[in-house]
Amino acid sequence: MKNLPPTSLSPSSPFGFHMALPLLMLLILSTLALHPHRSSAADSLSGNQSLSGDQKLTSEGGKFVFGFFPLGNSPKRYYIGIWYNTNMVSKLTPVWVGNRDTPVLDLSSTELKLSKDGNLVLLNQSKSLIWSTETNITANSTMAVLLDSGNLVLQDSSDTSRILWQSIDHPTDTWLPGGKVGLNKLTGENQHLTAWKSLEDPAHGLFYLEIDPSGSSQYFILWNGTKNYWSSGDWNGKIFSGVPEMTSNYIYNFQYVSNASANYFTYTVNTDDVISRFTMDYSGQIKQWTWLSDAQNWILFWSQPREQCEVYALCGSFGSCNENNSPSCGCIKGFSERSPGEWHLGDQSGGCARNTPLQCGGSSSAGTEKDKFYQMDSVRLPDNPETMEAGSSSDCESTCLYNCSCTAYSYSSKCSLWYGNLLNIQEQYNGYDQSTLFLRLAASELPSSSSKSNKGGIIGAAAGGAIGFLALLALTWLVILRRQRRRIIGAAKAAADGVLVAFRYSDLRRVTTNFSEKLGSGGFGSVYKGSLPDSTFIAVKKLINLNQGEKQFRAEIGTIGTIQHINLIRLRGFCADQNNKCLVYEFMPNSSLDAHLFHGSKTDLDWGKRYLIALGTARGLVYLHEKCRDCIIHCDIKPENILLDASFIPKVADFGLAKLLGRDLSRVLTTMRGTRGYLAPEWISGVAITAKADVYSYGMMLFEIISGKRNTDHWEDNKNGFFPASAMKKLMAGDIRSLLDPRLEGVAEIEEVETACKVAYWCIQDEEMSRPTMEQVVQMLEGTMEIIMPPVPKSLQLYSGQQERIVFFSDSTVDQSNQTQSTFSSSPGRSSNSASLKE
Ligand SMILES: *[C@@H]1O[C@H](CO)[C@@H](O)[C@H](O)[C@H]1NC(C)=O
Ligand SMILES: *[C@@H]1O[C@H](CO)[C@@H](O)[C@H](O)[C@H]1NC(C)=O
Ligand SMILES: *[C@@H]1O[C@H](CO)[C@@H](O)[C@H](O)[C@H]1NC(C)=O
Ligand SMILES: *[C@@H]1O[C@H](CO)[C@@H](O)[C@H](O)[C@H]1NC(C)=O
Ligand SMILES: *[C@@H]1O[C@H](CO)[C@@H](O)[C@H](O)[C@H]1NC(C)=O
Ligand SMILES: *[C@@H]1O[C@H](CO)[C@@H](O)[C@H](O)[C@H]1NC(C)=O
Ligand SMILES: *[C@@H]1O[C@H](CO)[C@@H](O)[C@H](O)[C@H]1NC(C)=O
Repeated sequence: MKNLPPTSLSPSSPFGFHMALPLLMLLILSTLALHPHRSSAADSLSGNQSLSGDQKLTSEGGKFVFGFFPLGNSPKRYYIGIWYNTNMVSKLTPVWVGNRDTPVLDLSSTELKLSKDGNLVLLNQSKSLIWSTETNITANSTMAVLLDSGNLVLQDSSDTSRILWQSIDHPTDTWLPGGKVGLNKLTGENQHLTAWKSLEDPAHGLFYLEIDPSGSSQYFILWNGTKNYWSSGDWNGKIFSGVPEMTSNYIYNFQYVSNASANYFTYTVNTDDVISRFTMDYSGQIKQWTWLSDAQNWILFWSQPREQCEVYALCGSFGSCNENNSPSCGCIKGFSERSPGEWHLGDQSGGCARNTPLQCGGSSSAGTEKDKFYQMDSVRLPDNPETMEAGSSSDCESTCLYNCSCTAYSYSSKCSLWYGNLLNIQEQYNGYDQSTLFLRLAASELPSSSSKSNKGGIIGAAAGGAIGFLALLALTWLVILRRQRRRIIGAAKAAADGVLVAFRYSDLRRVTTNFSEKLGSGGFGSVYKGSLPDSTFIAVKKLINLNQGEKQFRAEIGTIGTIQHINLIRLRGFCADQNNKCLVYEFMPNSSLDAHLFHGSKTDLDWGKRYLIALGTARGLVYLHEKCRDCIIHCDIKPENILLDASFIPKVADFGLAKLLGRDLSRVLTTMRGTRGYLAPEWISGVAITAKADVYSYGMMLFEIISGKRNTDHWEDNKNGFFPASAMKKLMAGDIRSLLDPRLEGVAEIEEVETACKVAYWCIQDEEMSRPTMEQVVQMLEGTMEIIMPPVPKSLQLYSGQQERIVFFSDSTVDQSNQTQSTFSSSPGRSSNSASLKE
């Protein structure tokens, strides 16, 4: 967005003057039109003044701007709205939009002004009303002022403390600090945060966030006003029960107000350095964004629902959601996007249309075939089935086939039938309720099975002539295969010798049998198992969202390829064909740490193994942070990224990838789905990330190694809890054994558990400088560095859960902690008591 001077007038402004007007006249007018007594940009509009073209109001402190902004191309559509001033946020980011459903095409003939009745109105050339603040004004004259909080206020000009209307009471999709989202009990009005329709269309979309209209403190996200697919859980005074990670948002003050006139939430940010906002995104998720000035971009700090496919009917009718794809929306087999343009801007509400019309069961005229069913495995079934009793799957099938409006069925003890649109399908779904869907399609969509029965004769006739050709083809194919095999064997040998091998994509496809056995997926892509001809296994990571050139890619690979440490996963090779980039790693038979920690009623990780895993991981990170040529910050330490070899030696995986993705940390964050629980608070503050961010994530993971549960999981008799918050009391009371994974039945070196616990608390200190380095972590775990009682991190103090409050430290502990802080501190001058221990 070009930042035009606030006083410039567009040539054919609605003042009714022509371009030929003398410059002097224009200058006088423009100063008149805006605030006469302020030399800087105007922040208010009053009386006979109006706004048009490039004219803007700028809030007094220069933080926000109010004016017209464009969206889309051919034609450009204009909206009146509020956005961050370019000196704050260089990307045009509207936080409020007036005429969201009624854009203006011809900006020059549009005018925003105060109407006779005092409302702020938007008029087109023929003075027709396009948008208005639509409120009953009881004042002789009004004025509009843009405040530094991003709030546009309509006030009584003779008594400016009388607020008649304000934009913050009519939010669009953005919840700014100081804003409210809630229920007005007097008027019954429930403020919604309503998502935009798509990336470029601020019109009311299908998703909105609202507070429970029946009066509880929960927030819901709804689809099209009917389907509630996410709820925050109740507010317990500190956090929402469904959002335990709120504890780490320690720079926010959330406040819940509930009295006779209203129920609402509001929040403030403790520091001026952070530009942050919540939005109800067009993706159906509520998102928290922070501006990272280094990257000149917004980074996604938090979102709910966490998985994109949990958003109800995101992909429209006959659409399907797939977490493994990016973007996640597609059409099911036999269907195509109804309006591709909108679809690709993120508005999938139009859904998908059938490629070939159904023949329908009854019609059996010559040449037409009956419809067929296409089997879709591992799906989340569509919503709103009609169920009926049926003896068998074929009964169910024929019931569906018989009724022309039946579009799909599924059979498991009962027969489920769908009529009309199919909504909310998820493919490659691995939830407990995954199922198989039989989708009705025109027979011509499924040629394979029919070709045998109907076209058998033709094939037979042609076969004689073709057989020689086929034989030749097969022979050529054999030769190619053998060559490929030889090539792969050669590559495998080289890889075993420690040479970084450049694989061909086709070879990797073969050794992974067309990427069929998936080992896992993460932000950078999915990992598949492959087996080499010498019967060794490899893990092949197919990278997605890589927008790097080949040269750069190879350079980075060269760096990662030279990193060798027993606790770091070894890169064996890569492929860098035009569009397909892969990394080839050694295969780890014991998969990843999460698989052993979080599943099952028994565990194969006794305490001894766990301690060695913690220690090994720490050593691997020391190497990454300090020993290799360029310091590598991992950025995504979590149990999923700690792999275990046959003898449970831990290997840190996925390092160096942040760099591969072009050093754009925002990219890393937005692709890190579901790992926010491990993020250090400095991610949000916009300061440069250091190796101490890994220390924080390591600490969070250490708690999980001790407890055998996710920190955010239900803890203590199904009460909601955040383990690091509830464990402190027990640590201080010396009740160490109760912190331990119950599956270990108390069998552990209690001193080691205590050490691990203290190390974990030191690692998750709010201030980077209070956290140890990974080197110091290793020393503490090895027992060569003394470790004293850590202070309670400030962010944990915010949390009390539904349990009793955490007991805080005595003064003597505070003194000790300060001592240790200075040993961890990398800059010696710093001595402030960073972790304030008072409540
Ligand atoms: C607006 O303009 C009209 C006509 O020029 C004038 O009578 C009126 O006093 C003006 N109002 C204000 C608030 O300046
Ligand atoms: C102004 O808006 C009205 C109502 O939407 C419309 O009928 C009219 O054509 C518009 N005039 C111009 C000049 O755009
Ligand atoms: C404004 O006043 C009119 C008539 O007095 C009334 O019908 C309407 O409901 C009021 N609107 C609002 C938003 O209060
Ligand atoms: C409007 O102006 C009239 C006359 O000046 C005055 O009596 C009245 O109180 C004013 N109303 C408001 C709401 O300011
Ligand atoms: C949303 O609901 C309205 C009726 O409330 C309906 O007409 C419309 O088709 C629905 N939209 C979608 C995308 O289903
Ligand atoms: C409800 O709380 C709000 C904010 O604290 C306050 O402005 C309002 O006056 C209160 N209303 C009642 C009826 O107590
Ligand atoms: C097909 O099923 C729908 C929904 O159950 C029903 O309303 C309709 O009457 C059925 N049509 C026929 C031909 O049975």
